Amino acid sequence: MKDTARITRKEMIRLLNEDLAREYQAIIAYVVYSQTIKGAKYQHIATELEKHAGEELGHAIIIAKQIDYFNGTPVTTPKAVKLSDKPEDMLRFDLENERVTILAYRERIRQAEAMGEYALSEALREIIVQEQEHLTDLADALGIDNPDLADSAKSHK
Ligand SMILES: [Fe+2]
Ligand SMILES: [Fe+2]
Repeated sequence: MKDTARITRKEMIRLLNEDLAREYQAIIAYVVYSQTIKGAKYQHIATELEKHAGEELGHAIIIAKQIDYFNGTPVTTPKAVKLSDKPEDMLRFDLENERVTILAYRERIRQAEAMGEYALSEALREIIVQEQEHLTDLADALGIDNPDLADSAKSHK
């Protein structure tokens, strides 16, 4: 595991609020895409996307709880949701959001552990397992391999 500089509680609140805005974005994208994605071959993934929406809501609640624990105020605004009427585009937007989300949570877990906030890192680990499942569902639906997150994590640093 690489060394992570210890960040302040204030900085952690700011970063968790970024994560929360990303969870809101995911909820909205999955709600809208699951209902508007058209075509017989996308019916299975549409059902999956509907499930993802519910899981993202669960993540948002966990992150908001952690922000409150640090005496921060949870944000109320999502990151922007992209729209398209092409099923492939919707799935690619979701895939990219999940990729960014996983990288962010990996970093957040390292930061939480550097702070000695093990309950937070444990909560984030549970979330990241589901985000990886979301990523795999989307890659399968697109008929592509899972993006290589190990490489992007290195260049991310
Ligand atoms: Fe999520
Ligand atoms: Fe997700």
